[in-house]
Amino acid sequence: MYKYLLSFLAYLLLFSCKENQRQDYTTWRVYGGSPENIKYSGLSQVDTNNVTQLRQVWTYHSEGNDSARLGPMQSNPIIVDGILFGVSPRLKLFAIDAATGQEKWSFDPADSLTNPRWTLKSVNMNRGVAYWEEGEDKRIIFTAGPVAYAVNAVTGKLISGFGEQGGVDLKQGLGRDPKALSLSPTSPVMIYKNLFILSGLVSDATPGHIRAFDIKTGKQQWIFHTIPYPGEPGYETWEDTTAYRHIGSTNSWSGFSLDEQRGILFAGTGNPTNDFYGGKRLGDGLYGNCVLALDALTGKLIWHYQTVKHDVWDMDISSPPVCVTVTRDGKRVDAVAQTTKTGMVFLFERTTGKPLFPIEERPVPVNDPVPGEKLSPTQPFPVLPKPFVRQQITENDLNRLVADSAEIRQRFLSLRNEGVFTPPTTGGTLIIPGYDGGAEWGGPAVDPATDVLYVNGNEMAWILNLVENKPNYGTGTKLEAGIRLYHQHCMGCHGPQRNGSGDYPSIKDAKDHYTTAAFYELLSTGRRMMPGFNHLSKEEMNAVASYVLDLKAEQLQRYRGRIPEAGADTIPSYGFTGYNKFLTREGYPAISPPWGTLSAIDLNSGEYLWKIPLGEFEELTQKGIPITGRENYGAPVITAGGLVFIAATSDQKFRAINKTNGRILWEADLPASGVATPSVYEVNGKQYIVIGCGGSKWGGKRGDSYVAFALP
Ligand code: HEC
Repeated sequence: MYKYLLSFLAYLLLFSCKENQRQDYTTWRVYGGSPENIKYSGLSQVDTNNVTQLRQVWTYHSEGNDSARLGPMQSNPIIVDGILFGVSPRLKLFAIDAATGQEKWSFDPADSLTNPRWTLKSVNMNRGVAYWEEGEDKRIIFTAGPVAYAVNAVTGKLISGFGEQGGVDLKQGLGRDPKALSLSPTSPVMIYKNLFILSGLVSDATPGHIRAFDIKTGKQQWIFHTIPYPGEPGYETWEDTTAYRHIGSTNSWSGFSLDEQRGILFAGTGNPTNDFYGGKRLGDGLYGNCVLALDALTGKLIWHYQTVKHDVWDMDISSPPVCVTVTRDGKRVDAVAQTTKTGMVFLFERTTGKPLFPIEERPVPVNDPVPGEKLSPTQPFPVLPKPFVRQQITENDLNRLVADSAEIRQRFLSLRNEGVFTPPTTGGTLIIPGYDGGAEWGGPAVDPATDVLYVNGNEMAWILNLVENKPNYGTGTKLEAGIRLYHQHCMGCHGPQRNGSGDYPSIKDAKDHYTTAAFYELLSTGRRMMPGFNHLSKEEMNAVASYVLDLKAEQLQRYRGRIPEAGADTIPSYGFTGYNKFLTREGYPAISPPWGTLSAIDLNSGEYLWKIPLGEFEELTQKGIPITGRENYGAPVITAGGLVFIAATSDQKFRAINKTNGRILWEADLPASGVATPSVYEVNGKQYIVIGCGGSKWGGKRGDSYVAFALP
């Protein structure tokens, strides 16, 4: 009997694979093109022969071209029955005619709220929305800051029966005091039956648990603890038995994929707090940096794989896992592919998590970590495919195109540099692949006709410096406390001198732009890539304000912070000085090119079809320097017309590339960089390719337009 049951199950599995293959991928109703998130379009009207005739057919200014509201925009729009739903830089949800770009409606969460709890003065990033329908009930599930909204897809009005007057406060239901939490689902929710599932960008004090909510009522239906509770599997991987009560992050911020037939949700997670020092969270720390397979109906764990143990490099899983089918020993096998910041590609059998290429557990350097740290002696490395970005830099890999190469060499030699998992130090550790990959939030695209995976990668080295955090007791003046707190909570992004670091702004003149009230508001809600700081007490916020806003009178007041518990803070604590890139004086990467790439990898053999530099600095090309590639964010898409479409680079280009040989066939200039993933769809027999052009977070031109291309 049992045997028959098994073979019946095997039959069902086979059948569902076939179902999968029959799918033609001609719509773009889901973020990433399909629940599999493979960013593939079965449309072939635009092909390798006629792509040079592509023309811009419409432009939609999602903020009315208002210069105060332009900015980064990462939304991959969805298209349902000829209507395109997308999100503007300031998180206005809009519906437009997908053939003409004419607006139908827009919904601004900032001014349409009646519920004071949702006051949204500032908002985080948004990569897209999700659509659900049942008869005439058509909904967009849309998140802005800590609120999930259900918006009527036809009228653009909130659906009152959902949550409280149309919105759900996501700070509730996480098992901690909502007042101390800050979260913002930056990637869209995944819909499965009548559930929508999310995690999100969170503050250091907020756990990134994955949750499902009822799509009609907004009621929470299940929660998967990414930091396990006592009695849950994985709890034993934390030496601190109270970790589940206070550790934050471990969040799935880069989005999901779904095996709809089997009802399995796939998620990747980031590392637990704090990003660079693990002395207060010893152990492997499940489910940090994991690929998770969850029962989409119940949230029960089916399998997991930890890609980095005890991560102290901020090597979050930064792209959604994708559902693919590959050939093994002549048979079709359903699988999940995971690209990582470290530039690796992991491939697992879909239902069991069994690796489909060998993964080796290799020793990594653990000597001389900072006090209190205990690094994992080994880390997993897939044998195939080989990494798609460099894993270590030697003197031979430094940038020789510049005048300051002697200085670069000197700086390089002063850093600790022992490959991808070099221990963080106070003296400086070279981080390559960098904090932004390898792969980033766009994730890879996969061609189901050939089983080739296309992934864009960054090759940027960064320098990590740890600094010891001094305990923050209630002694001294507010200014002294404010500086300590700044070092602990703000310096990582805004730099030791408050003049910014990497992609983060200077706040040296914040006193000229912020009243104390506006400053508190910003700290409590966060904005875009800045998390909220609700977990700071009033006294602590006041101390930070006295320092950052230069409040002279308050700076002299006595600080009344918390009193140390007996025996507390015997373990030191470390912060870091910021996201600092290893750059030349002119601002180019201090390592040799390529600085950004696009790779095509055959998932059946694990071998590379081709690899090209992606993006260019025109001034370097003009000097006769071969195309260098440059930083890029946002995914490629593949079409049945034999093309890879990708923008992503900061050079404001949109490119179409021959998928079989990597040749660039077409390039268009965008009004601002398309740091986003394109969508491919069809209306009345015409194929369109659309891309959001918000500009980059690196500075440069900003925008608000969605630009659509089609054949004349
Ligand atoms: C994870 C990185 C990060 C951390 C940590 C962080 N910030 Fe920010 N901060 C940002 C980013 C990004 C922006 C720009 C937001 C935007 O796009 O509008 C910003 C903006 C600001 C601004 C407004 C600047 C302006 O010109 O309008 C102030 C003030 C500020 N941060 C203060 C702080 C303080 C104080 C802390 C610590 C309590 C802090 N930040 C922690 C990333 C961070």
